[in-house]
Amino acid sequence: MSRIEGKTALVTGANRGIGRVFVEELLAAGAAKIYASARKKENLAELVELGKGRVVALELDVTNADTIQSLANTHTDVDLLINNAGVAAFVGLIAAKSNDPARDEMETNYFGSLNMIRAFAPVLGANGGGAIVNLSSIAGHVNFPALGTYSASKAAVHSLTQGVRAELAAQGTLVVGVYPGPVDTDMAASFPMDKTPPKTVVKAILAAVESGQEDVYPDPMAVEMHTALMGDPKAVEKQVSEMLPE
Ligand SMILES: NC(=O)c1ccc[n+]([C@@H]2O[C@H](COP(=O)([O-])OP(=O)(O)OC[C@H]3O[C@@H](n4cnc5c(N)ncnc54)[C@H](OP(=O)(O)O)[C@@H]3O)[C@@H](O)[C@H]2O)c1
Repeated sequence: MSRIEGKTALVTGANRGIGRVFVEELLAAGAAKIYASARKKENLAELVELGKGRVVALELDVTNADTIQSLANTHTDVDLLINNAGVAAFVGLIAAKSNDPARDEMETNYFGSLNMIRAFAPVLGANGGGAIVNLSSIAGHVNFPALGTYSASKAAVHSLTQGVRAELAAQGTLVVGVYPGPVDTDMAASFPMDKTPPKTVVKAILAAVESGQEDVYPDPMAVEMHTALMGDPKAVEKQVSEMLPE
């Protein structure tokens, strides 16, 4: 996708965190229309006001494939799909009391993204190809045991990104995978470490969409870990294996 200016985007989980900043930065980049979606439409009122006619609120739970398909049937002008919605339980794979957190994370992070892509891929194709952005995590490249179930769901998002990229190449859809370290939102509120402002992350992602870059490491920790993983993946696995769940 060469320019965001004049295009129509759809953002999931747009009511807060990185998703909200996506809507603000898409407005700044000159997007013609932004479908800001959230589980509760009333949580989007401020963004609709900010958009002055360019932001349209949609009630959308990424785990509900039927609603998503109905929306794709009636919102046929989307050029850019941003799969941002996500959940994190921050539990260990074995330390968790049950498999419920693991299932919830897979349902939202993996199946939610897949639901959106399956419904909107034909729309993007009909509009000339467009682009899809999937929010994985640097934890999708190496499992952090303290967030073992979340890491596994983000590894699934990474694999999904590669597979979808191949399946949609023929229709000219750019598929961008994003692998951030800690970002300063509600999700990372309990991390006692340096966090990157969501605006920095979103600007890097939108620049990648415009330049056609497929893999985005949008903050210093992501860049450092990716470089280390390219050099010696077992050494990184060993290093993060010390971060055990409580
Ligand atoms: N923050 C980080 O450190 C970090 C690092 C790497 C990757 N990421 C990824 O970046 C994305 C955005 O994270 P964030 O930091 O902005 O998190 P956040 O502040 O916790 O916001 C998550 C958003 O996802 C929405 N959401 C959750 N389940 C949903 C569902 N079933 N349907 C629709 N929306 C749903 C939430 O809606 P409600 O308000 O209704 O709950 C909220 O809008 C996520 O995919 C996350 O995994 C974040």
